[in-house]
Amino acid sequence: MSLEKQLEGQVALVTGASRGIGLAIARKLAGMGVRLSISARNEQRLRQAAEEIGRGRTVATVRADVTRPEDIAQLVAKTESSLGPIDILVNNAGIGVFGPVQNASERDWDAVLDTNLKAAFLLSKAVAPGMIQRKSGHIINIASLAGKNAFAGGAIYCASKWGLLGLTQCMAEDLRSHGIRVSAICPGSVNTEFSLPHGKKDTSKMLQPDDVAHAVETILTQAPQSFISEILLRPTQKP
Ligand SMILES: NC(=O)c1ccc[n+]([C@@H]2O[C@H](COP(=O)([O-])OP(=O)(O)OC[C@H]3O[C@@H](n4cnc5c(N)ncnc54)[C@H](OP(=O)(O)O)[C@@H]3O)[C@@H](O)[C@H]2O)c1
Repeated sequence: MSLEKQLEGQVALVTGASRGIGLAIARKLAGMGVRLSISARNEQRLRQAAEEIGRGRTVATVRADVTRPEDIAQLVAKTESSLGPIDILVNNAGIGVFGPVQNASERDWDAVLDTNLKAAFLLSKAVAPGMIQRKSGHIINIASLAGKNAFAGGAIYCASKWGLLGLTQCMAEDLRSHGIRVSAICPGSVNTEFSLPHGKKDTSKMLQPDDVAHAVETILTQAPQSFISEILLRPTQKP
């Protein structure tokens, strides 16, 4: 059986899948026959996303704010009760607050770190025991090149993505002997609502959400003995 075929019928949970990169990942996975649970805070946009992916696909929607541990517990429970055990977790939900560190507030820090880092920890912790039992699974964290490169105004966001890469690498070591692959994708600037306004950027040269979805597909379609632990994704030409 081809590696793509083996994904058919598997269950994936994608956070932040109502728009942008998460929606592109969800669309890609649905096209590969994966049964999906998608989540975000805005229920209306989540339903629109499910309709868009929908047509003949299995797509469950669960409203959840990933900064709330009780929402995370419910998200995992509702996904597993409607679709079954989670084979693939994509920690994608993320926000950015940018500006000089001297102007940043503790509230900004908590919002960004809780969304971009703590939620990935809690969700991974929630799905790992089942994956260990089944001796297989993928956890894919959508990090950023901002987890590798420092820039002015990026203190909180870079800290969250730097942290996410550290979490990813340690979880990968904890879980690889159980047949679970934990990986990170680090895109540069992607053409989504997150990165608006683009100002003088040529959006046609920017990375598109589908490029990140393609990286997810690449990770998921490896042979079982192979483990792509990190993908750095840059636009071919600077936008
Ligand atoms: N765009 C870029 O240039 C870029 C580059 C590198 C990495 N990334 C990373 O890629 C990921 C997706 O970014 P994007 O560009 O697709 O952003 P986006 O278009 O703003 O979408 C973000 C998604 O996350 C959800 N979300 C935000 N906060 C949430 C919360 N507390 N609980 C649950 N869901 C939440 C949003 O839905 P609701 O608002 O309805 O909750 C939305 O579905 C993020 O982790 C981002 O850091 C983006």
